[in-house]
Amino acid sequence: MPILTHDAPRAPFAFTSFARMVTASTLSATFAACIVAPAPALARTPQPKAVFDASAVAAPDRYSADAAQQIIAAGGNAVDAAVAMAFTLAVTRPDAGNLGGGGFMTLFVDGKPYFLDYRERAPQQATRDMYLDDKGNVVPGMSSIGHRAVAVPGSVDGMWQAQQRFGKLKWKQVLAPAIRYATEGFQVDPRLQQQRDATAKNFAGKTNFDAYFSSMKAGASYRQPELAQTLTRIASDGGREFYEGRTADLLAQQMYGHGFVTKGDLLQYKAVWRQPLTANWDGYQVLTAPPPSSGGVGLIQMLKMKAGLKQAFDGLELNSAPYIHLVAQIEDRVFADRQQYLGDPDSYKLPVDKLLDDAYLSQRASEISADEVPGATPVKAGLGDAAPEKAQTTHFSVVDKWGNAVSNTTTLDGEFGSGVVVDGAGFLLNDAMDDFVTKAGAAGQSGAAGATGAELNTVLAGRRPLSSMTPTILLKDNKVSLVIGTPGGSRILTSIFQVMTDLYDFNMPPGDALAAMRFHHQSLPPKTIYFEPYRPITGELAAQLQELGYVLDGQSFNGDVQMIRIDGTTPEPAADPRGIGVGRVIR
Ligand code: DON
Repeated sequence: MPILTHDAPRAPFAFTSFARMVTASTLSATFAACIVAPAPALARTPQPKAVFDASAVAAPDRYSADAAQQIIAAGGNAVDAAVAMAFTLAVTRPDAGNLGGGGFMTLFVDGKPYFLDYRERAPQQATRDMYLDDKGNVVPGMSSIGHRAVAVPGSVDGMWQAQQRFGKLKWKQVLAPAIRYATEGFQVDPRLQQQRDATAKNFAGKTNFDAYFSSMKAGASYRQPELAQTLTRIASDGGREFYEGRTADLLAQQMYGHGFVTKGDLLQYKAVWRQPLTANWDGYQVLTAPPPSSGGVGLIQMLKMKAGLKQAFDGLELNSAPYIHLVAQIEDRVFADRQQYLGDPDSYKLPVDKLLDDAYLSQRASEISADEVPGATPVKAGLGDAAPEKAQTTHFSVVDKWGNAVSNTTTLDGEFGSGVVVDGAGFLLNDAMDDFVTKAGAAGQSGAAGATGAELNTVLAGRRPLSSMTPTILLKDNKVSLVIGTPGGSRILTSIFQVMTDLYDFNMPPGDALAAMRFHHQSLPPKTIYFEPYRPITGELAAQLQELGYVLDGQSFNGDVQMIRIDGTTPEPAADPRGIGVGRVIR
């Protein structure tokens, strides 16, 4: 089968003039040479009109921010920068960034919204009861650790399709930073080593994780020569190399006799362009993730229900006990609906329009009251009868000065995915099968975000597991006004909701909105409010919530939000202080 190659520059661009605008001091010396050097001979085309006075990124680590900066300096647009960031994160954030995972990209390009679903799919050999023993019980760890947890990866086709459709630079150019980091190494952040140490125990004796990652030491340079070769093949042969070429052979070999993903599954995999969900809210147009994400539906439901409860919220102090109580009741309804009605849109006709209907949401909001006793009346799904998730995932946001934006969330599902590395290719494989409900009707399923298992999200060959990833863009007057997203499993939508309401309902500057306390509640367990180590719920507030009937539980993580706000013409990027991200304006 021929492998596509793509070396010729498309849609010629004002490469050199823009590159000149970037001050030399803002370029990382490491990559300046490899990206900026070979300016293609360009036809004279009209210069696109600048909409903003700068480009900007909010990135989960400095390496991906540097990669984006290099690409923008080379004349790339937000999509080129995004693809370069995604490949860079596959090298510098092996816990979450990936070639062997999947994700979602929400885009606004040349004045139009797009959504790219590059979610993993269940392999053809997958069956509904594949994670149950002969007594019908879930086999612990089978859907999350090792070969059998792996679903067909979507990331490389996603990046390929996005860059082919909208990129301005050569495919090879956008992979160059990642190849360089894999070849020359990057400095390991202490947190990455801690995560590696904590996770390695789960994989010990079960996968080849240690053979690849035991040498990763905080502060030291970490090189990944096999990964560099894989990226180089993908760079020269195109994105389909991953599915049709040597990388596909190595992946299928790794699975053979242990897991379910075959060469046939890889050949069949295609990322899908879908219509983003859209909603009007507070004078903005929200563009967000449709199914197979539950996140966009949930985010819009939360925003609209809160707006519908304006009177009840009026005068309440942000994150006071009565405020948290109202938000928790909204979250009950959102998660009940998630469980009942959401799954892969290619498997079922989902009632998304009904779930987002204004009349439905105001009726749901009208059930909410300050007097409700938490957990006393289990919330049922609203259209007739929806569970926790794990780390790790990562998100970045980009805008370019021409007004294009990319909001991208990508995941291996659990930290370092399944722990299985493709021998000879040097990249980790996901455990996305764990996002399915492995036993229909059972409580505490990770794939159902901790509530009871939902039928729509059971395992089926070719099906995409329901996700919570919610890459989101807000437009005002058809111009990008906010680009936002985060990792965090089922906390993703509740985190984005909180940052957005802090920004717009409480007029907080972006940095303050990110630093503000975040909490999480979902329909199960019915009385639990989760708090985070960054801003724990303690003292008087804890006592007041307990008095209302809530049980407080600490969780290790509440997101790593990367966002860019544009109120006027200058983008204001902001990285979550909970992580090691970087917000950078690029001129
Ligand atoms: O798609 C999903 O919803 C999950 N695989 C995301 C997991 C996640 O965000 C964990 N992050 N910290």
